[in-house]
Amino acid sequence: MTQNGAGNLHKPLGLLAELTHRCPLGCPYCSNPLALEPRAHELDTATWARVFREAASLGVLQVHLSGGEPGARRDLVEITTAARDAGLYTNLITSAVGITNKTLAALADAGLDHVQISIQDSEEKSADHIAGYEGAYAKKRSLAAEVVRLKMPLTVNAVIHRANIERISELVDLALALGASRVEIAHAQYYGWALKNRATLMPTREQVQQAANVVEDLRRRLHGKIVIDAVIPDYYARFPKPCVGGWGHRSLNVAPDGLVLPCHAAQSIPGLEFWSVREHSLTDIWENSPAFNAFRGTAWMQEPCASCPRRDEDFGGCRCQAYALTGDAAATDPVCHLSPNHARVETLAAERDTAPYDYRRM
Ligand code: SF4
Ligand code: FES
Repeated sequence: MTQNGAGNLHKPLGLLAELTHRCPLGCPYCSNPLALEPRAHELDTATWARVFREAASLGVLQVHLSGGEPGARRDLVEITTAARDAGLYTNLITSAVGITNKTLAALADAGLDHVQISIQDSEEKSADHIAGYEGAYAKKRSLAAEVVRLKMPLTVNAVIHRANIERISELVDLALALGASRVEIAHAQYYGWALKNRATLMPTREQVQQAANVVEDLRRRLHGKIVIDAVIPDYYARFPKPCVGGWGHRSLNVAPDGLVLPCHAAQSIPGLEFWSVREHSLTDIWENSPAFNAFRGTAWMQEPCASCPRRDEDFGGCRCQAYALTGDAAATDPVCHLSPNHARVETLAAERDTAPYDYRRM
C-alpha cells in the first residue's frame, strides 16, 4: 500500500458518482469541469454496478448519485438499485428537471434513501434566470412535493452568491414550506464555472457578514424544525476549508467517463495522472494511483503549511484553488491569511462586475 507520508491510509466514506455531465440547466457556478464529457464517453450500467460493489468493499458507506443531472440517464433506476444492492446509502442530487413523478416512484421502490434538490432562489424569475432555464423553479417545487408525498427525506441545497445573498431567510422559509428536513446554504466556491463567473457572482464583505448573522438567527429561531448547514465563502475567511476533508483522505469522485478523482475539480490541475475504473479496481486506484498520492498527508507541503499546527486540520486548504490562484498546486491555499499570496485573494474579492452569466453549457 502506498502511503506517501500519509501515515495510516484512511478508507473513503463517501463516493460521488458523477453519472453524466448532461444537464438541462446552465448554473454559472456549476462544479463540473469546463470541459464536459459527452454522452458517448459515459460508463455503462454494469460498470457502475461493479464500481458500487468495489466501493462497498473498500469501506464506502454512502454514494451520492450526481451529475450533471442524473435524471438524464435512462438507467438511473437500475443504477440506484445496483448501489442499494451493494449495501450503500443512496443520495440523489438533482436539479429536479428531467425527473418525472413516475421515475421518482420507481426510485423510491428501488430503495433510494434520500433526495437533495437544488433551488437557485426564492423568487421564481430570479431562480429561472440563474438556472438559465425557464420553468425550472416550478419543476423543483413540484418534485419536492412529490418527494415529501412519498415520505422520502428531502434536503434543499441553495448555492449563495451576489444575486440571492439578500434572500437567505426566504430560501430557508421555502425549504421549510416544501417539507425539507435540512437546508444547505453553501456560498459559491470559486473554481471551474464559478471561477469563470467570479466577478459577477462575488458578494461584498458586508453582504457576507450580514448573511452569517441571518444564518445564526435562523438557526436559533428554527431549532428543531429544520437543520441548517452553512458553508461560508472562502475568499472572506481567515483560514481555508479542509477541502474534501483532505486530498485522498475521506472521499472520491468517479467522473462520467470512469476517471477517479480526489475532488470534483482535480482535472483543473495539470500534470496529475488519473486512473480509470475501466482498467483498475477502486481499491487499486485509492491506494496506488498517482493523482491520489500527489497531495496525501503532509510530506508535499511547503511553508508556511509544513510547520503549521493546523496542517492536520485543514490540510493546507484546497489544492485546486491553490493552483487556480498561484499556478502551484502544492502552495498554501491563498485564502489562508498566512499565505504569502493572500493579498491576491483580497484583490480578487474586491473585483466585481455586472457582466451577464457565462452559463455552463455542453
Ligand atoms: Fe492551514 Fe497552511 Fe494556513 Fe496553516 S499555513 S492554517 S496549514 S493553510
Ligand atoms: Fe479540488 Fe478543493 S476542489 S482540492
